[in-house]
Amino acid sequence: GGRVFSGIQPTGVPHLGNYLGALENWVALQTQNPCVLYSIVDLHSITLPQEPAQLRSSILDMAASLLACGIDPERSVLFQQSQVSEHAELSWILGCLTSMPRLRQLPQWKMKSKQKNEGSVGLYTYPVLQAADILLYKSTHVPVGEDQVQHLELAQDLARIFNGRYGELFPEPRALLSMTRKVKSLRDPSSKMSKSDPHAMATVRITDSPDDIALKIRRAVTDFTSEVTFDPETRPGVSNLVIIHAAVARISVEEAVSQAKGLDTGAYKQLVSEAVIQRLTPIREEIHRLRKDPGHLEGVLALGSGRARELAAPVLREVRQRVGLS
Ligand code: TYM
Repeated sequence: GGRVFSGIQPTGVPHLGNYLGALENWVALQTQNPCVLYSIVDLHSITLPQEPAQLRSSILDMAASLLACGIDPERSVLFQQSQVSEHAELSWILGCLTSMPRLRQLPQWKMKSKQKNEGSVGLYTYPVLQAADILLYKSTHVPVGEDQVQHLELAQDLARIFNGRYGELFPEPRALLSMTRKVKSLRDPSSKMSKSDPHAMATVRITDSPDDIALKIRRAVTDFTSEVTFDPETRPGVSNLVIIHAAVARISVEEAVSQAKGLDTGAYKQLVSEAVIQRLTPIREEIHRLRKDPGHLEGVLALGSGRARELAAPVLREVRQRVGLS
């Protein structure tokens, strides 16, 4: 067993990519590891403009979503990043060990700074804060989707750089990827499913109604071959549906393809949407139930943040000593 850490931005309800690429793994890891932390990374979310009242409610909504997906606050420390000030403090120290060119080449900066004209300093140093999140708990395992692998590499580099300069302190954290490490957009199977996709039909949120799920999957972009086969290179659209089907039904890709035998893509889409609906319905219902009691959600986060602070404080104290700050 290792020390597990991961985070998710409170910028809207999780989608199938978040759920299958990361959250499902988060739930599984709770039972096999002595120390498991999951953070709602609100400081990361303000690297792009957020409306304050909306952010506040998105944080509680994310807490409801994570609990509904199966995160158990008895087994894992579920907390709000900004409530543990050690994250920001370690981020500053690690930022002083990070070169500007190292950050400039990371894909998220390249993409988002272009979309948002200039891009803020916070957006630029985003991956340093992410490294601080991970190293603050001396984490060994980080369950994420494929899009986070380069950020993980920076966290590994910074662990190495810190250890080299100040003596061995941080283990090098490893990314844990699931079979569904990259769920694609339903409108454009060459890009990943994303919370910020402007096309409403591209993304299945875990709170979508059965009708919405059925509609989005029925409209999913595939190709002109009616038979169902698995070939992500030449048939990315259909293959994305096979991956989603296998993941939600908890079967192998081979089994999913064999269930599709004799079905054209239209009929197969119906099968896939039924499997997705079946999987998401209890989660959706639980989210609606939990949202009715914001006081409870605030209590869960306050408790988790207190526990995270207790774990973070001694590590940061050690860091301060090593660096010569105390
Ligand atoms: P975020 O909030 O964008 O996404 C949360 C998790 O969902 C995964 N994911 C996907 N997986 C498969 N297919 C997709 N289409 C897909 N879209 C998203 C992400 O890889 C992620 O695991 N920077 C992080 C948050 C973060 C973090 C951390 C993660 C901050 N500090 C420390 C790990 C450790 C992010 O923006 O995730």
